[in-house]
Amino acid sequence: MSRRVLCRLDEIPDPGSKGFEFREGDMLYALFVVRVGERVVAYENSCPHTDGPLDWMPGQFLAPEKDMIQCATHGALFRIEDGHCLAGPCTGENLTPLPVHVEGGTVAVEF
Ligand code: FES
Repeated sequence: MSRRVLCRLDEIPDPGSKGFEFREGDMLYALFVVRVGERVVAYENSCPHTDGPLDWMPGQFLAPEKDMIQCATHGALFRIEDGHCLAGPCTGENLTPLPVHVEGGTVAVEF
């Protein structure tokens, strides 16, 4: 498993989200993080409905109320804390979580 520093915690809006894409060897990784206070979660940027990306604008992964993750394509809603889909065409499915760490104000992910 590899570890990658993504950004500083204060570069993520609170509450808010931020997307990342990077290459590691031949693999392209697409993921996003959501911050609520000091808590940060990370998921692959892949909707369980079609495997497409969730964001319609870069970094925009939250519903307008900022209390749920929302897929821009067909509007599925996911709990922030565990990525479980509560409404939409993939209800009952889950986003793929990634281990994320906040240390010294820096956000890093394992993948
Ligand atoms: S692609 Fe996400 S809800 Fe359809």
